Amino acid sequence: MKRDLISIKDLTPEELEEIFKLTDKLKKYPDRFNKELVGKTLALIFQKPSNRTRVSFEVGMYQLGGYSVYLGPGEINLGVRESIKDVAKTLSRYINGIVLRTFEHKNILEMSQSATVPVINGLSDFSHPCQALADIYTIREKLKNIKGKTLAYIGDGNNVCNSLLYAAAKTGMNMNVATPKGFEPVDSVMKETSKIAKFSHDPHQAVEGADIIYTDVWASMGQEQEANDRNKIFADFQINQDLVKSAKKGVLIMHCLPAHRGLEITDEVIDSKNSIVFDQAENRMHVQKAILIKLLGAKK
Ligand code: CP
Ligand code: NVA
Repeated sequence: MKRDLISIKDLTPEELEEIFKLTDKLKKYPDRFNKELVGKTLALIFQKPSNRTRVSFEVGMYQLGGYSVYLGPGEINLGVRESIKDVAKTLSRYINGIVLRTFEHKNILEMSQSATVPVINGLSDFSHPCQALADIYTIREKLKNIKGKTLAYIGDGNNVCNSLLYAAAKTGMNMNVATPKGFEPVDSVMKETSKIAKFSHDPHQAVEGADIIYTDVWASMGQEQEANDRNKIFADFQINQDLVKSAKKGVLIMHCLPAHRGLEITDEVIDSKNSIVFDQAENRMHVQKAILIKLLGAKK
């Protein structure tokens, strides 16, 4: 039976560890894997812009000996020119896997139900599992033992925050989430992760004792028209030197990127020596190569 990657919630802690162990090997010995997906093709259906996700999947697929087809917003016109169901059924006749970046999460579920090939969530309004996997992998590289470590997420309780909460819960990490009122993660995720997470509206309290400070844009893709209002609402949630001072010395700084410098994070902090944002970006590719091998590769 095919397997998808739709949410980190669907993975066991053992499966996460397997992905990370394979990623270690892929990062250390890339040449050993350059025939792993020969003859395999991946479709990238993107309804939103992308730098990291698109490039890391395309390059990753190439490095594994496979091929990818990019289908941007104007191409398939998902759900308008053709139903998701028909796109899924057609593509399943040509290709071996689908990455979908979309708005509503239910589009990914629908694609998964109708496709006979694996479907990978390349970001929806609800979650961004590939990002969170790469993030936890990066934290693991830097801190070695991540069990009991605390990640302070400051800003919008969005797709990235939801996936980080699930990933933290599966890997024994704790999270302090500080958002403005009304911008908390969705209720179901808060409930499901309440054992490992504290939710508040106080960024200074949230970063106290944390090992990592993480932030993301205040207005996600599709919320551009709310940006001006959000910039005012979120002003006290900026990651700046003053906030970093409330955390312990050496606290790691993370951001999934793209960053709006001067809004959710200052230049000084994102460019500081404790910032690991480009390690996160690099690790997207290594981790996704492991995911592609697990989902599209020959069963061993
Ligand atoms: N972090 C991330 O997914 O970046 P892109 O939107 O550029 O793909
Ligand atoms: N929360 C952001 C993440 C971008 C990678 C968005 O959805 O636009």
